[in-house]
Amino acid sequence: MTTKKELGDFSLVIFGGDGDLAMKKIFPALYFRLKHGQIETASDIIVVSNNKKTTTEFRAELTENLNNKLKKPKANWIEKLCGMTTYLEIELTDPANYLPLKKSLEKAGEEHVLLYYSTPSSLFSVISGSMHSNGMITDKTKVVLEKPLGSDLKSFEEVNTTIRKYFNENQIYRIDHYLGKETVQNLMVLRFANHLFEMAWNSQNIDYVEITVAESLGVGTRKGYYDNYGALKDMVQNHLLQLLCLVAMEPPAVLDADSVRDEKLKVLKALVPFDESNVGKRTIKGQYTRGKIEDDFVKSYQEDIDGYNSETETFVALRTYVQNWRWSGIPFYLRTGKRMTSRYSEIVINFKHVPHNVFPKLAPIDRNKLIIRLQPDESIELVQMAKIPGPGGYRYKPISLELDYLASIGKKFPDAYERLIMDVVRGNQTLFMREDEVRASWKWVHSIMDNWTKTEQELKLYQAGTEGPGDEILKDGHSWNEAQSEEE
Ligand code: BG6
Repeated sequence: MTTKKELGDFSLVIFGGDGDLAMKKIFPALYFRLKHGQIETASDIIVVSNNKKTTTEFRAELTENLNNKLKKPKANWIEKLCGMTTYLEIELTDPANYLPLKKSLEKAGEEHVLLYYSTPSSLFSVISGSMHSNGMITDKTKVVLEKPLGSDLKSFEEVNTTIRKYFNENQIYRIDHYLGKETVQNLMVLRFANHLFEMAWNSQNIDYVEITVAESLGVGTRKGYYDNYGALKDMVQNHLLQLLCLVAMEPPAVLDADSVRDEKLKVLKALVPFDESNVGKRTIKGQYTRGKIEDDFVKSYQEDIDGYNSETETFVALRTYVQNWRWSGIPFYLRTGKRMTSRYSEIVINFKHVPHNVFPKLAPIDRNKLIIRLQPDESIELVQMAKIPGPGGYRYKPISLELDYLASIGKKFPDAYERLIMDVVRGNQTLFMREDEVRASWKWVHSIMDNWTKTEQELKLYQAGTEGPGDEILKDGHSWNEAQSEEE
């Protein structure tokens, strides 16, 4: 295992470091890694933002945030983290303003500099250009980019071209936080460290695959952003496609970053694009109306975004195919939405029916299913038919063999950001998206959005607190796995 000594000290500059993401994810992750001894207190964290405040004020804000957010906050670790953190008020759009940052970095004296762009991607170019013109980017500098990277292929290429002007691909860490989730990484182990599953992992044995990422939350405070993006760009283009890649990819020869990313790229390139004739039959876009989740009445999307006639989708379901030897003809159903019954993410591998029923007079035999629950309760469930005990012949029903992943590992999983930030420090790009992956996923997503526009695809309304309108894309005899009852 890598030790704290090997990781060494670094300077981390967080642009937009007093924003929502930094407060909710980045700083809690830094707190835990500091507490676990992976970050040395000699490292420096520099928060850069255009909000008027001093370091003292920022530290007070950070302390309050961590005290509210963490289950058992420890004052001494919060104090240490605050002690490492300074705040610089900089208007990011003018390169002349970056001198105080240059001075701070020189004072810190670290060779190992990480730049974390936690700002809208429209600022990535100006930040990179300013860092460059002030001589603050070296071959050793690493840059972390938050999604979304552009809002279509063209804007992705624009952002990417500028970033690539200043950084080599091996300096760039494009985050998709789903790849940092322990249960998502376990997919690789489940597939490639278990002979049993990998033997059956193909079109001869599998009938269809479901990937669902359901949320019970609405758009919350992000309405401006969300209304410009919608579920297709916010979730499918990145998180759901990455999950699909991990389910469908071939085993890499070795586990280095490029070997893994090469295999994922092949999956993205093998995805059948949509066209005008099939987009209506194979995709659904929906938007939530008022409804009830648990015991609470919730507003419609139109009300959440302050009521104008928005056509933005908050739900997408689609049927796609990976056109290659292993998966030919097998539907992959992807589904995601806000304000659904509960928060749950799962991958369901539906195996084929038995080839011959030796119990013809009894109820039909259900398929075997492998249900991989990613959140909120991490588990792996193998649904198999079993005899109902008792005399008088055979009766059977599906019964689950369930592995409660969390309970059997026996400790809390680190948050995705803890893993990802430390991977940036270590220089391991395996869990970050390479530019060609992002490009390939945008290209495929275009075949949906462009054809939605051409065919004026209908936006289906669904009541909040339901499973959404995902059924129409299912082929005969296929169904979505029933939602869990656990609530967020
Ligand atoms: C983000 C999306 O990338 O992922 C959000 O922008 C979404 O809209 C979130 O709510 C879901 O992440 P998680 O980890 O809570 O499943």
